[in-house]
Amino acid sequence: MHNAAIDRNNRNRELFHPGNEYIKQNNLSLDISYIVNPADGEPFISRDELESFTPDIITKHVMLKNGEGDCKDGDIPMLGWQSLPDEITIGHLDEITSVTDELAGKIDAFVSLGIGGSYLGIEATFRALSHTWFNQLSREQRGGLPEIYFLGQNTDPDFFSDTLDLLKGKRIGLNVISKSGTTTETAIAFRILRAMLEKDKGTNSAEYIIATTDKNKGALRELTGQKNYPSFVVPDNVGGRFSVLTDVGLVGLAMAGINIYEFVAGFRHMKKSTEHDDFWTNPALVHAAVRHLAHEKGKKIEVVATNSSAMYQLTRWMEQLFPESEGHHGFGMWVSPSMYSEKLHANGQMVQDGERNILETFLKLTECNHTVAIPTDPDNFDNLNYLADSGMTMNDVNALVIDGPAYAHFRGGVPNMTLTIPGRNAFNVGQFYYLMERSVALSGYLAGHNPFIQPGVEAYKKAMFALAGKPGSEARGEKIRAEINGMDRTVI
Ligand code: PA5
Repeated sequence: MHNAAIDRNNRNRELFHPGNEYIKQNNLSLDISYIVNPADGEPFISRDELESFTPDIITKHVMLKNGEGDCKDGDIPMLGWQSLPDEITIGHLDEITSVTDELAGKIDAFVSLGIGGSYLGIEATFRALSHTWFNQLSREQRGGLPEIYFLGQNTDPDFFSDTLDLLKGKRIGLNVISKSGTTTETAIAFRILRAMLEKDKGTNSAEYIIATTDKNKGALRELTGQKNYPSFVVPDNVGGRFSVLTDVGLVGLAMAGINIYEFVAGFRHMKKSTEHDDFWTNPALVHAAVRHLAHEKGKKIEVVATNSSAMYQLTRWMEQLFPESEGHHGFGMWVSPSMYSEKLHANGQMVQDGERNILETFLKLTECNHTVAIPTDPDNFDNLNYLADSGMTMNDVNALVIDGPAYAHFRGGVPNMTLTIPGRNAFNVGQFYYLMERSVALSGYLAGHNPFIQPGVEAYKKAMFALAGKPGSEARGEKIRAEINGMDRTVI
């Protein structure tokens, strides 16, 4: 299929600079009423407490903006994500779409290879904004776009092989994404898919592979030079989990037909809304303050629940952003992504009645892409005609799967806040990401550690490499094996 068939409606460049009306319609709001009002006696966190906390959080906020504080990975301050929304040009986005349009025109399926920050934001945005069954639609229904797959995010041989089954006989294109260029999961998947492509296309295989990696260093950069792959760069000063707005995210999103012009505009708008110092009108400051004080008051788990399967993927992105940035030196809240009302019929029991160590955050989608009516049933066997008779739709019920639990959980001792997302568009998802990035950066600073590194992730890698017999790690491997074997094993 020629790339002219790609639906240009998804590429509305005008949304790079949205008008005031559009911005007004797409306002993300944060409701903390069930934090600051008393459920039973005292409020969980009073407005006065938040007020008193203001000087502390403003200090950290100003430090971040000035590039001060513990923010370096090696010698590099990892604060590039802060200014990125203002730095990305429309010309750069045009370059990306021209590369992805050209590749899209000659493939049936696009595979994005990456893990952690080189994966989660791309899949989350794709799922948040695309048709639920995107790959099952006809090419025409997909607006001329290829099918989209993700690999390299785990080493499950069945998941990998089953995905290859779906790719059989299709013309595939790849985007291999790795900042370090050495991440095992991604590298194994790439090795296999590259071999498949080389077998199929011979020397032309390079036309079907995009590499997104460090500008100068790493194994992937070296291979890219040798093979002449079209390539994109992961900036030095942006960490993996903060990188969805860099080429790490933008290339795959452009390929999936997401409006990356609008996406950047969303980030830019939230940057503007969160860089000033007025506590009560800055959602990043309020969000970070509530979470920090909640942690101090014994909340160790944050259930992040949504009423949208599409938005559920954003909660999975949060599951990386927050614990990887906050989980240092014994600090941090465990983020538990949840889709309501599904989970209300599962661990919802524990949220309502279990140990009171939970803070809850709702991502409430108010405008869905579809409205589903509830029909009247002449037999009314399920007694639900009252819904139909009052004109309620499935959408109205879906709003209540947030409103009902928010009230009940509040009364049950689970303070909660609701971030309302007015609709499924790239502007709102961009706003959401920037808000959370700023909030988690503040959280790390408030806790007194560097939120931009993840030394804990390295420990598993070292052990795994050593056990796999990586050259140079043999002695460590032997030591670990001896330790494991020497242990009194209890296996039943
Ligand atoms: O947030 C992070 O930095 C990590 O999750 C990384 O993104 C992840 O480990 C993948 O790393 P790389 O892009 O180097 O393959």
